[in-house]
Amino acid sequence: MYGIIATWRMALEGISEADEMLKKNGNAKDAIETAIRAVEDFEYYKSVGYGGLPNEEMEVELDAAFMDGDTLDIGCVGGIKDYANPVSIARKLSTYPVNNFLVGAGAEKFAHRHGFERKNMLTERAQIHYHNRVKETTVQTELKPYSGHDTVGMVCVDKEGHMTSATSTSGLFMKHPGRVGDSPVAGSGFYVDSKVGGASATGLGEDVMKGCVSYEIVRLMKEGMHPQQACEKAVKEFDLELRERRGKAGDMSLIAMNNKGEWGCATNIEGFSFAVATEILKPTVYLVKFDEIGKQYFEEASQEWMENYMATRTAPLIRK
Ligand code: GLY
Repeated sequence: MYGIIATWRMALEGISEADEMLKKNGNAKDAIETAIRAVEDFEYYKSVGYGGLPNEEMEVELDAAFMDGDTLDIGCVGGIKDYANPVSIARKLSTYPVNNFLVGAGAEKFAHRHGFERKNMLTERAQIHYHNRVKETTVQTELKPYSGHDTVGMVCVDKEGHMTSATSTSGLFMKHPGRVGDSPVAGSGFYVDSKVGGASATGLGEDVMKGCVSYEIVRLMKEGMHPQQACEKAVKEFDLELRERRGKAGDMSLIAMNNKGEWGCATNIEGFSFAVATEILKPTVYLVKFDEIGKQYFEEASQEWMENYMATRTAPLIRK
């Protein structure tokens, strides 16, 4: 049974391409790279790749990772600037025995040496967002980097049972230069083991890293839990742990898939969406909702929701 699951609605076009590849016996490495690249290339998604929102010095610094669940090979980049597809650079890094996680200038040198496409990743639209955010920030209203950011994270299994996981993000809007979140950190932003399954995260990297939440979900699946049970247990327990110890918990949304193509998702926020396709499910976007007693459930996104989503993303932006 093949399948691919991803954080957020923005992954839909990418996972649809991956679904076509997987259907035709494509492998999990190519399928997931294709899916993530589609998100990186779409300029209206302001938290991944081209069009991603910049740091406090108006530079776009990108993080990405790629993991092969058969060999447990990992490739990661942190704070890379001016390259079109960080996930492809991460995939290449995963093929080496050492030097698998490169940051900043070192990652850029590697990408240059291997002929990856250079691109100015700061769009005009992202500059308008930056200027508007600076304008909104006064002495009274503290600069809030945490709103409106989101990583694309995916887990994929192909027909032969090979599994991969990958992530890509511009991280927090207005982050300090050099800040790296959970997305390129194995066990936190992603983890996959083809003998079991994989998981990937989006949310506040600083908190996701405190719990190595992706690894925790894979560990729970290894103990026999269904991906849905594993996601709910890991997210709920760690959210509580953070609230008890620190008085608050950052946004945390996780998706998971096992090597049978069964999947799950859990979140501690309102408004989370995810996209999934399997051999028996066409590419579908689900919205995560909570009932009156706080129990989580999924609802397929309506046509109206989908249209509104794209209209909002592409609406003209006025500089204030
Ligand atoms: N989860 C993405 C980040 O915190 O950078």
